[in-house]
Amino acid sequence: MSTLVNIRTRPLMPGFGAEILGVDLATADEETLKGVVDTFHRHGAIMLRDQKMSPGQLVDFISNFGEPEDHTLKEFTVPGHPKVYTLSNRVVDGKPIGAHNDGVGWHTDYSYKAEPVMATMLYAVEVPPEGSDTLVADCVAAWNALPPEKQAELDGKILHHSYQYFMSTREYGARELSDELKAQNPDVYHPLVRTHPADGRKALWPSTGTVIEVMGMPKQEGLDLVEEMVEFATQDRFVYRHKWRKGDIMMWDNRCTLHTGTLYDDTKYIREMHRLWVRGDKPY
Ligand code: SIN
Repeated sequence: MSTLVNIRTRPLMPGFGAEILGVDLATADEETLKGVVDTFHRHGAIMLRDQKMSPGQLVDFISNFGEPEDHTLKEFTVPGHPKVYTLSNRVVDGKPIGAHNDGVGWHTDYSYKAEPVMATMLYAVEVPPEGSDTLVADCVAAWNALPPEKQAELDGKILHHSYQYFMSTREYGARELSDELKAQNPDVYHPLVRTHPADGRKALWPSTGTVIEVMGMPKQEGLDLVEEMVEFATQDRFVYRHKWRKGDIMMWDNRCTLHTGTLYDDTKYIREMHRLWVRGDKPY
């Protein structure tokens, strides 16, 4: 039986997330990487400062967690690296190199797919000195904080998610979908309360943007409930706010969190992040 190497950590916030200290991911050996993966699974989110990773190294690293997932839109993937997606306001030769303000609004990634991504990783290539923080909410803590009567009311509710609706109404980057994208992204149905497959923990798992109804509820009443639950889960007491530095890597488990990007002065600053995803499974 192999024992995991000792990874030095400190909590991102009490009871959630871990900053991993003293690990250089570009040169880490296999045992250390196993320890990093284990830390991720035990804490729900990890963050490492001062990393220097090429797109190829990011793909190698994330492959320790599972199969890297494709991106729905291909136009902002890094040339030669289809699993690495650029989030940025940078324009080169008159063309944007990335999706700008792509993740602003509380959500869980790929919620519009039958098998949403298990994990999201962001790597800071260039970040503004102020603004553009990423916030991650611990949705297990949020679920556990609900009174039993509310838990009983919510458990078993099913949300209807629509990529088409999301893309036509989103605040940043709205667009009508091609017939091909419509066919590739049919509507899906996921539980409002998700069970973690590793240990059975329950998480409050609403999302903004893609949800168009709660099954069995009048439309507005259902949407009000989802909004109420997003507000509940994203109170400061459940949220880690990450202030980026160049070279930071942060990853979170989408099965038990919500996250959002935040705005920054894009007339003054450049933000460039690389985003990678790990394939997930069907929520229950
Ligand atoms: C995302 O939601 O995938 C990105 C969040 C961010 O840009 O901070």
